[in-house]
Amino acid sequence: MAPELPFSQACDNNKAPILSVLARAFVHCRSILEVGSGTGQHAVYFAENLPHLTWQTSDQPHYHDGIHQWITAFPSANILSPLVLIVGESMLPFDKYDGVFTANTAHIMQKDEVVAMMSSLSTSLPQGAVFCQYGPFTRDGVFSSDSNAQFHQRLLEQGYGGYRDIRELMDWAPALTLTAIHTMPANNLLLEWVKA
Ligand SMILES: C[S@@+](CC[C@H](N)C(=O)[O-])C[C@H]1O[C@@H](n2cnc3c(N)ncnc32)[C@H](O)[C@@H]1O
Repeated sequence: MAPELPFSQACDNNKAPILSVLARAFVHCRSILEVGSGTGQHAVYFAENLPHLTWQTSDQPHYHDGIHQWITAFPSANILSPLVLIVGESMLPFDKYDGVFTANTAHIMQKDEVVAMMSSLSTSLPQGAVFCQYGPFTRDGVFSSDSNAQFHQRLLEQGYGGYRDIRELMDWAPALTLTAIHTMPANNLLLEWVKA
């Protein structure tokens, strides 16, 4: 790997376990939108390993150079240059995709942004579309570990939105059915939703 590429150790650690879930969840999908691609590491790995999909990256503009660098370093025919997509500001084009993926975004976004993302997914996704949402969440208000509770507190102190509870995500997305809660390494979860 070129040393100048932006790098997330967490992404490198979790990409294979996430892929094992996405390979099944997106098996009937064709066109995936990723919200908050970050470094771009996940995108190039999933695009290479899920060649039946077209993988549309997106993020806030200041992430785009890094995503372009990863796509240039690890090109795939099925990965697309990032869209500017800012939840809470951009039009959210969920109606154009039969799958959406996002990782580690709900605890970074402000609460109103997560509400906007979930409600837009609920209203705009085509029938049968799949939404896979990876990250740390609380279940019925309970943190999965002490370290997660401490991280949530640090996020709040730094001005981020902090962990969201699975129940509130369900409430904000009434047309989505939560079909599976996958337990992932490092006390994370992958929530698999389907548009009814
Ligand atoms: C912790 S990083 C995760 C990046 C990558 N998905 C990963 O798993 O490594 C949080 C990501 O959420 C994105 N993000 C935060 N607020 C956002 C918003 N309102 N709209 C779109 N993306 C947002 C950031 O730009 C960043 O890419």
